[in-house]
Amino acid sequence: MALKYSTKVIEHFTQPQNVGEIPDADAMATEGSPACGDMITYTLKINPETKVVEDVRFRSFGCASNIATASMTTLLAKGKTINEIKKLKHRDITQALDGLPAVKMHCSVLAIDALKSAVHKWEIDHGMIEDKIYKLDYDGVLESLKNCLNPRTGISIVENRLINKLEVEPEAGSVFIELKLCEMDEMYVEAIEEEIREKVQAIPGVKIVLVQFKACEHSG
Ligand code: FES
Repeated sequence: MALKYSTKVIEHFTQPQNVGEIPDADAMATEGSPACGDMITYTLKINPETKVVEDVRFRSFGCASNIATASMTTLLAKGKTINEIKKLKHRDITQALDGLPAVKMHCSVLAIDALKSAVHKWEIDHGMIEDKIYKLDYDGVLESLKNCLNPRTGISIVENRLINKLEVEPEAGSVFIELKLCEMDEMYVEAIEEEIREKVQAIPGVKIVLVQFKACEHSG
């Protein structure tokens, strides 16, 4: 069945804004969607005094919604400070596009996530924040999982309360995670597992990561 797109999505797909690359960019990030593997690259010009994003362009390696959401994201980002960008949510993008089909919601998650990643890198490069190294204990692993997003909602699996069990054995270097997933998230099982492994395996000392899923009684 053909997907129903809003007029704005079609406009931004057929005539995307701010396409390309800023040659002397201050920040850059390429991110892939854990849900489908599509990618976006952003390049940004950020004023170091005012912390305002003065220019932003994108290249898309993905679907029509990937292009439309990235295009709308550049419009929303231009002229905003990095703190305002950190507060943007994927729903701000979908609302500005008059909605997206449910199966394409993750495209807006990727669009905003990649932009925030470019801003995050810029902050690290400018000594404003440190690249965090998490500790191999319960709190450290939980903290690292806060960066792991549910591709459907764009909300971290911790904030979304998807973690049912978390067991960490620092001496053995092992981490066991059980997640409860509702029916709507079942299509993202592999993507979520991959994202969890990537985050947890980055913690020094981790040797084994076991991820298990449990069906949730209610959907949401
Ligand atoms: Fe993956 Fe759109 S970004 S289908």
